[in-house]
Amino acid sequence: MSVLPIITAPDPRLKKKCQPVEQVDSQIVQLMDDMLETMYAAPGIGLAAPQVGVLKRVIVVDVGHDDQRDPRFFANPEVVWHSDDVASYEEGCLSLPENFSDVVRPAAIKLRYLDRDNTPQEMEADGLLATCIQHEIDHLEGILFVDHISALKRSMILRRLTKAKKAHRPLAKYATA
Ligand code: NI
Repeated sequence: MSVLPIITAPDPRLKKKCQPVEQVDSQIVQLMDDMLETMYAAPGIGLAAPQVGVLKRVIVVDVGHDDQRDPRFFANPEVVWHSDDVASYEEGCLSLPENFSDVVRPAAIKLRYLDRDNTPQEMEADGLLATCIQHEIDHLEGILFVDHISALKRSMILRRLTKAKKAHRPLAKYATA
């Protein structure tokens, strides 16, 4: 497994719609494992393939604890149901380092996907897991968490990131997705 460089905004690759994988073959398993390693190293609780420059519908998530990891792998994840109830979490993103904002999303979801063994699966999620999965699926559509907040706040965050990039300032690392 290897740790891959994480792309930070602004970057056109973070705004692209990703392509489904045909199947979870050895190449996709390798990608999933590298993404998990990259996510743990960051550290983060979720990572989507476009964040490492791969425009494929693959995400990894772990909302467990350091002493009890709970890695989950999803290819072609699709929300097939969501609750009317909503939940608000303060979200961050490894591609938008040092920036956080409250985002409102459905509180519970039902998901269809291919697992790491290429087996079709269905699962339900709520709480932080549901939020994290929705955040990562957004990445596959070229949507960032800042696209859910006010235009004013979004432009403030993006201006800050552009400035940091130009200054080649190393960015601090937080437990974000
Ligand atoms: Ni993110």
